[in-house]
Amino acid sequence: MISQQFLDELLSKNDIVSVVSSYILLKRVGGDFVALCPFHNEKTASFHVYPQSDSFYCFGCETGGSIITFVQKIENLSYIDAVRFLAQKSKMSFFEDDKENSKFFKKNEIFRVNREAAKFFYSSLYTKEGSNALLYLKSRGVNEKAIRHFGIGYSDSSKFSLCNHLFKSGFEEEILKESGLVFNNKTASLSDRFLNRIMFPIIDLNGNVIGFGGRSINDSYPKYLNTKETLVFKKGTNLFSLNFAKKTKENFLILTEGYMDVISLFQLGFENIIATLGTALTFFQSRLLSKYTNNVVIAYDNDEAGQRATDRAISFLRNEGIFVKVLKLEKEKDPDEFVQTYKEQAVYRFSKLIKEAKSDIEYRLQKIKNSISDNSDNEIIYLQKAIKVLCSIKNKMEREIWAKRLSSEFGIDKKTIIHQIELKEVKQKKKSFKEEIKNIKVSLSGRNDIVNKEKAKFLKAASAEELLISYIIHHFEDVDIIFKKISSRDFCTNFNARVMKCIEDFVKQRKMSQNITIHDFQNNFSVSEIGRIAKFFASDISKKDSIVNAFNYIDVVFSEKMRERIFKSDFSEVDTIKDYINVLKRCKK
Ligand code: GTP
Ligand code: MN
Repeated sequence: MISQQFLDELLSKNDIVSVVSSYILLKRVGGDFVALCPFHNEKTASFHVYPQSDSFYCFGCETGGSIITFVQKIENLSYIDAVRFLAQKSKMSFFEDDKENSKFFKKNEIFRVNREAAKFFYSSLYTKEGSNALLYLKSRGVNEKAIRHFGIGYSDSSKFSLCNHLFKSGFEEEILKESGLVFNNKTASLSDRFLNRIMFPIIDLNGNVIGFGGRSINDSYPKYLNTKETLVFKKGTNLFSLNFAKKTKENFLILTEGYMDVISLFQLGFENIIATLGTALTFFQSRLLSKYTNNVVIAYDNDEAGQRATDRAISFLRNEGIFVKVLKLEKEKDPDEFVQTYKEQAVYRFSKLIKEAKSDIEYRLQKIKNSISDNSDNEIIYLQKAIKVLCSIKNKMEREIWAKRLSSEFGIDKKTIIHQIELKEVKQKKKSFKEEIKNIKVSLSGRNDIVNKEKAKFLKAASAEELLISYIIHHFEDVDIIFKKISSRDFCTNFNARVMKCIEDFVKQRKMSQNITIHDFQNNFSVSEIGRIAKFFASDISKKDSIVNAFNYIDVVFSEKMRERIFKSDFSEVDTIKDYINVLKRCKK
């Protein structure tokens, strides 16, 4: 058990706004903060942080809770591990019991294993076994400075070098396996996963080595082998070299596909380069990027796969409000090859390509143009497709500029083009509104409610219970008056009754006239239940609600509860029926 005193200290040292801002960009709106939700993909911000109640809530995916819930969700940790995580962050000592089952301790151990392995790989590069690897790097033009900067290393061809080294360094077998660096081979002995490969450490934004990419140096398959998913390494959540690039003085980042692109450009003096490592850019990565820059230049491979990946990256990045440009290589297959080809001229030439990079809109329009042949019948097809592209521009001024260009190019009135864009936009909006209405209806009906499973059955009562709970939370000065009239036992739905009970227990034990906070629920509810409770804290309507309404909610709960009792029984409780009629009469008023 964590003591209240410890929790109090932890919470006083970690405020929710600064912890959340270390992951995503928050915008202040009044006293609260909003952002695009880190837990689901969305175009408009529905993720709210409320410093006053120390809580957060996303109206889109209904995730919510305290700062601890936030860490649980984003770091994928249990409650107790999230507490440890925050304790470590604020340099408090944390309890060591039940270490074996703690993801937090395991994660820390894996970081330590990875760091030790990275050091080992690096030093192997300068042993006799590593001489070929070093030659390979030299042949690809990688210099000593880059090797040191990126911590590049070598895993030799013996199956046990790393295993033995890590055992000698005192790590347990279990954690070695969990790091993904070693595995049980067919004969059940432990052996190294990476053999005869150049090793690129992948480092997160806190400076932890989270995994490795290994390039074969003898054309063995696969060309690149990455760390498999582990507790600390998840595909699509990190970007290679962002830990370095985030420090750049440039106001833009260059997005490439591979390790070697980043390294070659680094050697030319570009420090603002990152790579997605072969996988398509995810919304999570784009959101991460938006924290560090408003401008991204895409410099993916010069092939069809690269173009597809570019299209996808454009849409994700634009969604985050990032201005995107696309860099066009002439013949070279990727930035690395470009650097090797132009040698001393490469800096100058690559800088020129950056300057000449076209905006995403221009790139997309050009692509459409290339795909249709140049005859006047096709003008209309082009224009229709172009309108669709311009529809993705939210900024009015930017839109005007493009409409003007199209207008002069095709001799069509600018107003007509703007009108067409707006028509298309309305159509899209209607479609998304319809979707939204459908979702709201489902949510109001209580069907599919995974937190309050009885909601659909007792819809009227459940809604009144929710409004009442929200009212209490936002007007805690009225809690005693309300408790004189109703208790958790009078509630119809079990979940809401549990919430109410928790409030009752809090009031019984509280010192002075303390208000209840999201933290006071944490011990008794699951993460998704806390999400619902966070919704009560987030309710704007309840802030403005009145005690008269609260009394009315109480009546509705009573009448529903009685109705349930009366229709279940054999009408023997005359008094109950009388009460029911009285309550109903009040409700009617
Ligand atoms: P070099 O051939 O060493 O110049 O690498 P490259 O960066 O040109 O490779 P490529 O364009 O083929 O791939 C880009 C990135 O995708 C690489 O840096 C890797 O991160 C990833 N990748 C490429 N091939 C593989 C593979 O076989 N397996 C995995 N897991 N990733 C790969
Ligand atoms: Mn490449």
